[in-house]
Amino acid sequence: MEPKYKRVLLKLSGESLAGNQKSGIDFETVLKICEPIKKCVDMGVEVAIVVGGGNFWRGRTSGKMDRTRADHMGMLATAINALGVCDALEQLGVDTRVQTAISMREIAEPYIRGKAIRHLEKGRVVVFGCGTGNPFFSTDSAASLRAAEIEADIILKATMVDGVYDCDPKTNENAVKYDNLSFGEVVEKQLKVMDGTAATMCRENDIPILVFSIDRPMNIYDAVCGEGIGTLVN
Ligand code: GTP
Repeated sequence: MEPKYKRVLLKLSGESLAGNQKSGIDFETVLKICEPIKKCVDMGVEVAIVVGGGNFWRGRTSGKMDRTRADHMGMLATAINALGVCDALEQLGVDTRVQTAISMREIAEPYIRGKAIRHLEKGRVVVFGCGTGNPFFSTDSAASLRAAEIEADIILKATMVDGVYDCDPKTNENAVKYDNLSFGEVVEKQLKVMDGTAATMCRENDIPILVFSIDRPMNIYDAVCGEGIGTLVN
């Protein structure tokens, strides 16, 4: 197959890295997720990744904690995940670099846009950790920000559902999946594609989003090849 996109920003939820475990990292699962990423890189596609941290910690649901501190903990969780994803990719023979939005130079490179782009051009997968580096922003927002900065062709949002539905498919068996949506429809119908900040960022910068399920990791490869999976928002 031929790739449809030259440079993609893959958003992986933290949850997806836990596999059947409820939390933490299931490394076998991470390896499975990384196999299609390697296939994409081998095809010459430039892949940048933003990882969530929900498998360890979620700032927004931390209850009584101070939100800023809770979000700092969430950002550290994404850094752990970034290192895990990198390790799996390297075990598969893919060259990688981790860049973090919060400086932790002993562990990873700091985020530098120009360096990230050079790494991508050299066929390295760049995994961005620590979200945007700011509290009150989600890793979806980090994905949209980094996608805009590195001029990615699309955001591939690999998630736990296989697309965007008109209502919650978990609670409504008649829920209908959309194949295509405009950003206008997402706002109008109040559909949950990404959080509002992230969706606005993508709309204003003309970055399409493809939402699809990570249950079948090879979906990442199919998405890059433009196979009609998931829901495309543009
Ligand atoms: P080129 O410019 O293509 O040579 O990129 P490069 O990443 O190979 O060069 P560089 O000499 O910058 O980095 C060599 C190694 O050191 C890579 O594994 C980088 O990820 C790592 N590295 C670079 N800067 C930092 C840093 O600030 N902290 C940490 N922990 N590693 C770094």
